[in-house]
Amino acid sequence: MQETKDLVKIFFDPMNKEVTVKRGSVLLNAMRDAGIQIESICGGKGECGKCKVLLVKGEASYSSSKHENFLSKEEISEGNRLACQIRVLTDSEFAVPVESLVANPKILVGTKMSIERLDPASKKYLVLPSSTRDDKPRLIRLEGYSGPTPEVSDEIFNRLFSMEPEQAITATLSRTNTPPEIINIEPNDRTNSNYGLAIDVGTTTIVALLADLTNGQVLGQASTLNRQVTYGETLLTRIAFSRKTKDGLQRLQQAAVQSINDLLEKLALNAGIKNEEITSVSAGGNTVMNHLLAGSDVDYLWFVDANDKVSRHPIIRKAKDIGLHANSEAYVYCLPNVSRFLGGDATGDVIASGMHGSDETSLLVDMGTNGEIILGNKNWLVSCSVASGPAFEGAGVRFGMRGMRGGIEHVRINRESFKAEYSVIGNVLPKGICGSGIIDAAAEMFSVGVLDFRGKIVEGRTPLVRKGRDGLEYVLVPEEKTAVSRDIVITQRDMDYIMDSKGATCGGIMVLMKKFKLSIYDVKNLYLAGAFGAYTNLGNATKLGIFPEFPNAKVHPIGNGSLSGAYKTLLSMTKRDEAKAVALNMLYIDLLVDVMFAETYSDSIYIPGPKELFPSSA
Ligand code: FES
Repeated sequence: MQETKDLVKIFFDPMNKEVTVKRGSVLLNAMRDAGIQIESICGGKGECGKCKVLLVKGEASYSSSKHENFLSKEEISEGNRLACQIRVLTDSEFAVPVESLVANPKILVGTKMSIERLDPASKKYLVLPSSTRDDKPRLIRLEGYSGPTPEVSDEIFNRLFSMEPEQAITATLSRTNTPPEIINIEPNDRTNSNYGLAIDVGTTTIVALLADLTNGQVLGQASTLNRQVTYGETLLTRIAFSRKTKDGLQRLQQAAVQSINDLLEKLALNAGIKNEEITSVSAGGNTVMNHLLAGSDVDYLWFVDANDKVSRHPIIRKAKDIGLHANSEAYVYCLPNVSRFLGGDATGDVIASGMHGSDETSLLVDMGTNGEIILGNKNWLVSCSVASGPAFEGAGVRFGMRGMRGGIEHVRINRESFKAEYSVIGNVLPKGICGSGIIDAAAEMFSVGVLDFRGKIVEGRTPLVRKGRDGLEYVLVPEEKTAVSRDIVITQRDMDYIMDSKGATCGGIMVLMKKFKLSIYDVKNLYLAGAFGAYTNLGNATKLGIFPEFPNAKVHPIGNGSLSGAYKTLLSMTKRDEAKAVALNMLYIDLLVDVMFAETYSDSIYIPGPKELFPSSA
């Protein structure tokens, strides 16, 4: 038994929560145990500075000096600490500032879901009285079904023949696997009560949609933070957690499944249906998320040579095997992955866009935690992934934040005063700046001459540019107009990071075009997936040189492509076949080892970029 003298109590304000932990515990772990959703972008390595807390009472020791990179001497003397860098020694009280908490992101809504031909993997049929339970053959005949003979377990047979023979009986047939399988049997005619769940399993956010499998109607959508967020923001921090922690994989799996269960229960309740009536699930996640949801080992994804080891077939599990609160026999189908950093979410994007069925050459870009780029048409598809997403989602930038309440989302800089005019999500005082705001701010700083073509902040044009601890910085919002009691600034270090991300994205696009000897004039469609496509000012993204100019291209924001792809593959076996073909046939270029990328990246590292990509700026 644990001696009480070895335990300490920690109280958290303003959430009014108390936990008892072992003396010497890392505060970040105690907060995770208490269910406090604290920002921990670097996963607790002391490298992001986002897990700031205030020690109000008690004693805590530093486990390293990394906090000095993020906290000034004054802030430290006031009691500010990084939760991941201290160990709690006595009963203590901590205040958790609002900017350290993960708030619900602004979720991309309004994507119209549609399916050309309804042909869901799970369908209900009336059982015909001629079904037999004799040994040879044991058959359950289904009214109106003419496919391969379905598999039936002993349990289903026993349930069927324990039912009143004169009553109507409904069987649920799943075609997720071959041969098909009867996964449920129930009394009465329930053929009109069949539902499915489509899920976008994002690294940060999970979005779910409940659909009526009999007609494709969407009954509701809901979103929540992926509970894995407190184990680190990036894919690599999640893999590291799984590798280094004894039950890390299970904890990460449970965190994702619990997040999905929250959504599933809410959607079922609102629609007035029972959880067990959800007989099919289709999920679109990146490769790591798909593995973690399924409880598959992610260790091998840590290594750069993992691309060829990633299976391009869909991962399939039963709901009961992963703890999902749908019908326990329902199959969970994960859209197929392509490589280590190009997963089922990207396959879903392609299915949602329809580019794989078109004669015209299209470019698809999805900037999430990772950036995915796919080029091609119905005859060929080529792809790559770039580590550019985080900067455009606010990570790695001093005042960067996700697209959530308090985030500056759009910026314009006054040409005379050099002061920023901006809009904030939720119309409140700003706490930071989110991806679309960062792109606007950088493009505007360039337009007014506060930034030069190398992405360096220019001194002397305005007093709003000053020297800060990371070199020159531009004051975007003065302290008195913020919710964080500090000036919100864009620093040179932020700009270096943004320029690196911009160079990688543009350089990645260029590699794909060069490999297929295409020019900007050949691309006829530009599909932009995700929040980036929905909220970013495309003119500013092009001005900054993230995307080349595509003079002949129609721009199509496709919203949450991963969710649309999951919806389509929930409702159509044809779309599942297409997703499989897309994943199997897509060429993947690993930019980490591609010699051409070194060249295209260095050509793209200035604003906007090479002449052949930006003819109008020449
Ligand atoms: S610095 Fe603490 S989680 Fe990143």
